[in-house]
Amino acid sequence: MSRIAYVNGQYVRHGDAAVHVEDRGYQFADGVYEVCEVWQGKIVDMPRHLDRLSRSLGELQIDWPMSRNAVEFVLRQVVRRNLVKNGLVYIQVTRGVAKRDHFFPSDDVAPSIVVTAKSTSPAAAEAQAEKGISVVSYPENRWPRVDIKTVALLPNVLAKQHAKENGGKEAWYIDTEGNVTEGGSTNAWIVTKDGALVTRPAENGILRGITRAVVLDLVKREDLTFEERPFSLQEAFEAKEAFVTAASTLVMPVTRVDGRIVGNGHPGSVALRLRELFHTATDLQTA
Ligand code: PDD
Repeated sequence: MSRIAYVNGQYVRHGDAAVHVEDRGYQFADGVYEVCEVWQGKIVDMPRHLDRLSRSLGELQIDWPMSRNAVEFVLRQVVRRNLVKNGLVYIQVTRGVAKRDHFFPSDDVAPSIVVTAKSTSPAAAEAQAEKGISVVSYPENRWPRVDIKTVALLPNVLAKQHAKENGGKEAWYIDTEGNVTEGGSTNAWIVTKDGALVTRPAENGILRGITRAVVLDLVKREDLTFEERPFSLQEAFEAKEAFVTAASTLVMPVTRVDGRIVGNGHPGSVALRLRELFHTATDLQTA
């Protein structure tokens, strides 16, 4: 079966899917995106992702490419047409196609929308979670508006590549105070020796992760001790556990930071429990 993508009003073969060379996403990274998990044929937390998309669009003064209902319909269609049971659905909206000029184009230029979906292996993800991942620290070098989920991900690409070249699966950004902000494509958490979960507040300096928000709901529901505050790289070295969260990884244990073993070097029980409970706290909508 060939993969199908949605591009500006049409369902096309993935291999043929294309946007114009003067799409502002291509030339200026002038666009935003969302990634939702697909779990057992359901789109996970679509309303929360579309709320965040709406906020990102609003911050950049980009219009919705079509009604929110229509976007929901297309997300479902793309998941279904690609027969995705478990995987990810991706939506990107840019300011549209216009002659290259930094200023916003005129109002008659319509935003571009692209939706793709892919299957992933739950077995491979579970195997990874049983092992845990290594993270590698990297100086925070992004603009201050990382709360906007823009497609301008070059700093994230470079940080993650640096991590990969140093034996890691994720990079952890470190700010000038020595605190961890977040991962290259995940939010960062630790569990202290006293058993308190710690993650950085989402007011600024990080993306307000949807997975992070769900885990916070779980933490409250399960009555776990929790501190929303910055934590340092040093604290991460000394933590009992560490983990990252994202739609693409869910709750993923971290067993090494900069080559140093975290806790006992195995995925922590808190992280694994939150991973196990994760979908009980999500909003699941049939694709
Ligand atoms: N990344 N921080 C950054 C920088 C991210 O790119 C992401 C998500 C997150 C976690 O957000 P959420 O829980 O809403 O997925 C945090 C997506 C998955 C990506 O770029 O592929």
